[in-house]
Amino acid sequence: MSSLSSSQLQKALVLPSRRGSFVLSSIPIPRPQKGQLLLKVHACALNPVDWKIQTRGIIVQDFPIVLGTDISGTVEAIGDGVEGFSVGDRVLTQGVFDNNCGGFQQYTLANADITAKETNISFEQASTIPVGLGTAALGLYTESIPKDIDPLERGSVGLFPPWEEGGRNKYAGKSVLIFGASSSVGQYALQLAKLSGFSPIITTASLHNTAFLQSLGATHVVDRHLSFAELQSSIRQITSKPLEVIFDAISLPETQNAAYELLSPGGCLAIVLFSSINSANEGGKRIVKVFGQVNFPPENRKVGSALYKRLTRLLEEGAIQPNRVEVLPRGLEGIVGGLDRLKNDAVSGVKLVARPQETA
Ligand SMILES: NC(=O)c1ccc[n+]([C@@H]2O[C@H](COP(=O)([O-])OP(=O)(O)OC[C@H]3O[C@@H](n4cnc5c(N)ncnc54)[C@H](OP(=O)(O)O)[C@@H]3O)[C@@H](O)[C@H]2O)c1
Repeated sequence: MSSLSSSQLQKALVLPSRRGSFVLSSIPIPRPQKGQLLLKVHACALNPVDWKIQTRGIIVQDFPIVLGTDISGTVEAIGDGVEGFSVGDRVLTQGVFDNNCGGFQQYTLANADITAKETNISFEQASTIPVGLGTAALGLYTESIPKDIDPLERGSVGLFPPWEEGGRNKYAGKSVLIFGASSSVGQYALQLAKLSGFSPIITTASLHNTAFLQSLGATHVVDRHLSFAELQSSIRQITSKPLEVIFDAISLPETQNAAYELLSPGGCLAIVLFSSINSANEGGKRIVKVFGQVNFPPENRKVGSALYKRLTRLLEEGAIQPNRVEVLPRGLEGIVGGLDRLKNDAVSGVKLVARPQETA
């Protein structure tokens, strides 16, 4: 059992109001409910959505809020009904935007079925996995929710996952194109595409990331700074196979429109931001907007818990490699400057990670 009492306080980086400034505060340590774990957060990774919530006032309705959804740490206490975890286990989990389940604090709650043990990577590496892997996995492998019953337009290419029996190499011989493979989401989409057997796996990125992306499974890396005509011509030289699956991990208007243009008739394009495609509904091409949260809704939770059940094994096998890491100084306080760097597009091919326990 945990040695923490319920009245104990912890340090947290709190966003007090919509479009407010982050404040380092003392808040109570939450207690795990049924099906939950209390984690001591050793590392939390930063995501673009964290600065977008702060500066644009999107997604979160209730304040104050603790952000941060990429979390790794140790199990501190175990809620009723949880099996398979012990106090002290090293784990990773995807957080939720609420004060009890955010990562920008020293202790957080986690849903046990969305938590995986890890044994062979650092806390910092582990914290780079949940959001990126979850977004890539949900975008490629969830059953799509019909648009008429889902106002958020969550969707997925709807492939069969490589972590299920019979899933490895299921798409051998089919080509895939990943825009922005050196982004965090892109790196995991690339690795999942490799496990699914796609070939060629064509990616766009800055060319200084070529060797790194090849080590994760890219068969071809095309310079992301090319014009559309140059990109199209490079891809034609690589393959004559139809491009039936494209994952746009960047989803700026220019990448979305280029991806849609390159998509074969009847193919599916997964995007991670809202659609800005000018010429939709051509040739039976499908566009799906990924919602990268494995804790909800239930369709995502089902895929998420199946993935988390097998994640420890995938990590031990080396089938999924974490992102490269840059550790920020000054614990939770370092997050503010890190989010500014993400906002200014000043991070390339690494994930920024904070260590909440190092907060002064
Ligand atoms: N829908 C969801 O639920 C969901 C979930 C997670 C993330 N997202 C969104 O997904 C996007 C990516 O997030 P992330 O955390 O993976 O980003 P990230 O790791 O911060 O992305 C940085 C990388 O983006 C690459 N990049 C930037 N512009 C590019 C372009 N025009 N073409 C190709 N690559 C480009 C850069 O590659 P080089 O260094 O090679 O130039 C850089 O390494 C963000 O907009 C985020 O908000 C959505």
